[in-house]
Amino acid sequence: MAPDNRTKKVGLIVGSLREHSFNRMIAAAIPELEESIAFESISLAELPLYNEDLDHGDGPEPVRRFREAIARVDGIMIVSPEYNSGIPGVLKNALDWASTPGKTAALRGKPTGLVGATPGVKGTILSQQQIRQTLEAIRAHVLPFEKMYISQVMDKVDAERRLLTDETTRKYLKRYVQRFSLWIDQVQTLD
Ligand SMILES: Cc1cc2nc3c(=O)[nH]c(=O)nc-3n(C[C@H](O)[C@H](O)[C@H](O)COP(=O)(O)O)c2cc1C
Repeated sequence: MAPDNRTKKVGLIVGSLREHSFNRMIAAAIPELEESIAFESISLAELPLYNEDLDHGDGPEPVRRFREAIARVDGIMIVSPEYNSGIPGVLKNALDWASTPGKTAALRGKPTGLVGATPGVKGTILSQQQIRQTLEAIRAHVLPFEKMYISQVMDKVDAERRLLTDETTRKYLKRYVQRFSLWIDQVQTLD
């Protein structure tokens, strides 16, 4: 059934394990920007390092829970930093776990959106390129054309209250999420 007759569910994955992560602050702002969607956080913290020897059946318990959390939502939004001009290792590890087994992989065919925040000036462009490349290899449906880069993030949040306060960023993020919601509808028609 197409999800437009009911509340859409979107999983939020943060590509940083840091407690005071800026990307976690951005992810936390998303649900209040688009109240028609039910968002839930999907944590990477418990996932073991990917090992093909462990990847049989449902896999280790944290992997089973992670894959199940992805399977039960209509789309995934990844909010991630950039490390050394690329994808953070914890996120790549998680995407590898969600890329198997074969045609029933949790991320395969899943509508996916990308957001990234950095204190730097280039807005996680390079990291997002690599995340997109990985998701395309998995055959997830990454929202095309639209990009959501947040640079100099420390000036856009109230770090103490952990709030996204910059109005322009809030406006663009809301628009990105709305387009992602439409993308979920479009992907349904591909199935
Ligand atoms: C190992 C490491 C590599 C980094 N490389 C980059 C980088 O290539 N580009 C960038 O914009 N920021 C880079 N940074 C800075 C991160 O953007 C910054 O630490 C950011 O706050 C991490 O995201 P978080 O706040 O969500 O944890 C790097 C940080 C670390 C620890």
